[in-house]
Amino acid sequence: MGHFKLLDVFAGCGGMTRGFLDDGEFVSVGAVEVDRSAAATYAANFDPTGGHTFAGDIADYTNVPRADLVIGGPPCQGFSALGKRDPEDVRNQLWREFVRVVRESDARMFVFENVDRFAKTPEFELLRTAASNGGELADFRTQVFRLNAADFGTPQKRIRTIIIGSRIGPVVEPPVTHAKNPIGDVLRWVSLRDAFLAGPVVLEPGVRDEWFPESTADFQNFQVPGPFKLRDLHVTRRYDLTSEIRYAHIAPGKSRLQLPVELQYPCWRKNPAGASDVLGRLRWDQPAVTIRTEFFKPEKGRFLHPQWENGGEQVNRALTHAEAAVVQGFDERHVWHGTKAEIARQIGNAVPPPLARAVAGVVADRLQAG
Ligand SMILES: C[S@@+](CC[C@H](N)C(=O)[O-])C[C@H]1O[C@@H](n2cnc3c(N)ncnc32)[C@H](O)[C@@H]1O
Repeated sequence: MGHFKLLDVFAGCGGMTRGFLDDGEFVSVGAVEVDRSAAATYAANFDPTGGHTFAGDIADYTNVPRADLVIGGPPCQGFSALGKRDPEDVRNQLWREFVRVVRESDARMFVFENVDRFAKTPEFELLRTAASNGGELADFRTQVFRLNAADFGTPQKRIRTIIIGSRIGPVVEPPVTHAKNPIGDVLRWVSLRDAFLAGPVVLEPGVRDEWFPESTADFQNFQVPGPFKLRDLHVTRRYDLTSEIRYAHIAPGKSRLQLPVELQYPCWRKNPAGASDVLGRLRWDQPAVTIRTEFFKPEKGRFLHPQWENGGEQVNRALTHAEAAVVQGFDERHVWHGTKAEIARQIGNAVPPPLARAVAGVVADRLQAG
């Protein structure tokens, strides 16, 4: 077990904690998560007695433990549009709560994760101002990295802004382990074929079940569905025949734009220039595009299973929850709690553990050096 104390706020299902614990130098001493099912997932993986997972609003989190490091990724939809700087805005307050917890935990470092566009928001400037002379985190200095999860062995292109705050000195940029066009010791990006068929978890494309197994558990005196193993999540949806016919027309890398006119929705015909990823099919030989919380709906993006061959077997469905979890870099160790929609949200919101692990490595080096 590691020795640097880790406190995860906005913890979700614990993708970020998973990566930090995999580094080997960290131990989880606290987590805050308002969504009960996500908190139950976190606790099932990292806090078996449920003793240090606070399932509530961060604003009500007062018993802050001492920690070496605070990590957190507030919900990205919480960041207001450019130009809004109303200090009473509840979304600003989430960011302020993060700063408060860093202060109260007496952490030496923090890691703040968010979407790529976060670096262009007023909240980004507020965070940097807090960590400069006269700010609430004046003794911290920040470094900003723009990292792609695919460059760290995740079978997914997912770009994130990672802000590392430190009051004990700088870190180096996490060294990439994978690349689209690798040279030297760097490996090739992990493709969906590698991830689904050659990895430690083999997920056969043929799936019939629609539901997770019947199972509920007590979490802090509430009943939550689960625990579920990765394989329990390998379930599909029921699609109507017209939808399946539509999907059958879409080849890897293509999308709704490939459909014959008679299969297009009337609204698409009126607006042919709309989102081009809708009903998109993934490719076997590449990492997935960024997974979101509704990956199980083909109409929400490029989420159709990559299996599609002329004259061969076609798989005309979106990714299963298990496939999406693998695309996010989870493996069979992670167990899950919640309904289908809740677990999809946990998966789509997570920081890929391999990306978090790469960040953990440089943070651990700095904490060790002091
Ligand atoms: C982007 S997700 C975090 C994902 C997580 N870092 C991971 O790697 O799995 C943001 C999380 O913040 C939680 N959240 C939103 N508002 C909150 C609040 N006021 N207090 C505590 N948690 C909150 C959401 O329920 C969501 O799970």
